[in-house]
Amino acid sequence: MKQYFHIVTYGCQMNVHESEKIAGLLARLGYESCDKIEEADIVVFNTCCIRENAENHAYGNIGMLKKLKAAKRNMIIAVGGCLPQQIKKAEELHEKFPFVDIIFGTHNLGKLEDYILEKRARKKAVIKIEECDGSVIEGEPKLRTSYPNAWVNIMYGCNNFCSYCIVPYVRGRERSRCCENVIEEVKGLLNEGYKEITLLGQNVNSYLSPTGGMKFNGLLDKISSLDGDFRLRFMTSHPKDFSRELAEVIAAHDKICNCVHLPVQSGSDRILKAMNRKYTSSDYLKKVEILKKYVPDCAITTDIIVGFPGESEEDFRQTVKLVEEVDFASAFTFVYSKREGTKAATMPDAVPEEVSKRRIMELIELVNSRTREHSARFVGKNTVVLCEGYDEKKGLYLGRNEYGRMGYFESKEDVFGKFVDLKINKANGISLYGDIVNVRG
Ligand code: 5AD
Ligand code: SF4
Repeated sequence: MKQYFHIVTYGCQMNVHESEKIAGLLARLGYESCDKIEEADIVVFNTCCIRENAENHAYGNIGMLKKLKAAKRNMIIAVGGCLPQQIKKAEELHEKFPFVDIIFGTHNLGKLEDYILEKRARKKAVIKIEECDGSVIEGEPKLRTSYPNAWVNIMYGCNNFCSYCIVPYVRGRERSRCCENVIEEVKGLLNEGYKEITLLGQNVNSYLSPTGGMKFNGLLDKISSLDGDFRLRFMTSHPKDFSRELAEVIAAHDKICNCVHLPVQSGSDRILKAMNRKYTSSDYLKKVEILKKYVPDCAITTDIIVGFPGESEEDFRQTVKLVEEVDFASAFTFVYSKREGTKAATMPDAVPEEVSKRRIMELIELVNSRTREHSARFVGKNTVVLCEGYDEKKGLYLGRNEYGRMGYFESKEDVFGKFVDLKINKANGISLYGDIVNVRG
């Protein structure tokens, strides 16, 4: 009889890709993917703990499975990822949800098959959290779900210890994959027909291959010199490590998208210092200037946190000023979320919730108006999108251009996975609407 799995993912692209690895392991055990949680024989929650709301979201959804588990005793429920990587949270999860069968962390994801076999053989919950041993696992199976796009990890962990961030504690220290393995993986994906590769790391700029010492710029150069009609993206860059050389590599290769995610977090030097970001707002602006000099049409996107402990109205005004100055193509905005175990969690002068709310609303409005302006710039022009799906509600195909803007369009032929030239005739928020001018390949 067929057995089915269902994975619920929280958080960033890194986690989405990790879920593709979990799916690969489950497929190797003979499970098949299913859309409906009720039909699954195994449900895996791949959690994120970067902010409290992602955490609460996971808690809520896990809690909702209690009834289903009572009715379907053989169903296996597993909770993995960042949240249980913190031992205290793993214990809390077990106490709160005793019906969860398997709890595992970020460093032992590769052992999930063993844990499932162990659970099948016994009644008690299998709770396994391991510390990071600094190793890099290669060759794990992956069941990719995002064709024509593919994510490729180039490094894991983070050494930056931004004072608000839990990532270094749950993902361990920085370690890079060997460049040969990364390049082989990309070649394999291109052979399989993938058209867009996104290189992933918490701080891709500090990539350093353990073999041969290749750095990030070299890796980008090498991959974008591979044959084929494809696009290359990367994320995330830390502004302190963003260099002129990197801007040059982006400018030198058409395959590298003119789109850089450069999280600024705040425009106030006082707050940046307290955040341990290791740059000032003027350092950041200088990097932006360099990037714009070499890649004039580059879409720069960012992350911003409001309500960091001690953030005054003046500090917030500095952030607004910086956003007005940089002309970001889009930005993710977050209200500071206190994470136990981080340095910021011990800092005084918490910003009252209503103040943070007001600030984020103002910022969102500003960011949205900028985003609309950016979209409007495409109207009347041609842009190339990589078709990644069909929107049933709109009855239109959709695809992203190299700047990250989503374009919607009609097509009689199936253009899924193809590069399509669009003439844009309308913009709405972050979305563009256009007509097909040409279909490539
Ligand atoms: N509170 C709010 N936002 C956070 N981020 C990371 N940690 C926190 C936190 N404790 C945001 C940062 C980062 C993005 C991935 O998440 O802006 O760039
Ligand atoms: Fe967190 Fe800073 Fe590392 Fe990004 S660079 S993962 S924000 S500690």
